[in-house]
Amino acid sequence: MDKGAIGGLFNIERDNKKKGTEIIAVTSGKGGVGKTNLSVNLSLLLRQFDKKVLLIDADIHLGNVDLFLGVTPPYTIADFVLKNKSIDEIIYKCPEGIDLLPASSVVRELIESEEVALKKIGEAFRRFHDDYDVMVIDTGAGVSRTVMSFVLSADKVVIVVTSDPASVADTYGMIKIIKHTVPSMPIVLVVNMAKNLEEGESLFKKLNLMVQKFLNSKLIFGGCLLKDEQISRAIKMQTPFIQEYPNSTSSLYFKLIVRKLMSVPSRDRALDMNIFDRLVGSREIILGGE
Ligand SMILES: Nc1ncnc2c1ncn2[C@@H]1O[C@H](COP(=O)(O)OP(=O)(O)OP(=O)(O)O)[C@@H](O)[C@H]1O
Ligand SMILES: [Mg+2]
Repeated sequence: MDKGAIGGLFNIERDNKKKGTEIIAVTSGKGGVGKTNLSVNLSLLLRQFDKKVLLIDADIHLGNVDLFLGVTPPYTIADFVLKNKSIDEIIYKCPEGIDLLPASSVVRELIESEEVALKKIGEAFRRFHDDYDVMVIDTGAGVSRTVMSFVLSADKVVIVVTSDPASVADTYGMIKIIKHTVPSMPIVLVVNMAKNLEEGESLFKKLNLMVQKFLNSKLIFGGCLLKDEQISRAIKMQTPFIQEYPNSTSSLYFKLIVRKLMSVPSRDRALDMNIFDRLVGSREIILGGE
């Protein structure tokens, strides 16, 4: 892994830490499990709790946060990385009161210069250190270098999982990498598309037992969202769910997840003093997962 890419993100986020900006990465082992939907609704709820929020679409090439919000930002991260637009020009102020750093659609040059892109994004973070209470990072799926750069830079990580065996297996694989690299990273598990709350809790317990037994660590239960036709309908309508159905049961579950998430202490950086070495040392593991 390129030292600069991860080191850059990490350093910037450390500056943010001094100012109290909390960085929450929302990620998953397997794709299509509900990360973007959670990131968007989480950001809007944080706004309702009076937090100043920057939502970062870190699925750099295939991001679709803008579609979930029903907005059309004029510029994307590709304009910042490749066309020298300033970060302030790229940040899109959503009508809901949150700021969005939009991802690009597929741009070949951006794919070719992904390390440069990461470095530039990292530098841009420094620019924001006073501006936000929370940065929510919606990552792509899997354990690519880019995803792990964002995940390992965060103060806490939310992993979205479903009962699909592939999702469970990939979640465990991702937890293993995170705990190996940054042992003090709080990992909050959110079970999505559960049949009922019992199924969600028992999936959490199963994964937590594995993590306790084999990784000598533990997970935090962030809560559960049920499979809900209204959620997919809101996504199709490109309207944020909690705005469309504010009094629904799923909106209540979203709120419980946000409350829980905000109550989880950020990781203690003093425990990770040699994190940079560990990040560089984890290069093989992360590259091996690509
Ligand atoms: N709780 C839910 N109930 C019903 N459908 C859901 C729920 N959560 C997500 N979905 C469906 O799953 C789809 C994928 O959700 P989303 O795009 O948020 O996943 P993702 O993890 O961000 O995917 P990717 O890995 O491609 O970025 C949505 O389009 C929606 O139809
Ligand atoms: Mg997504």
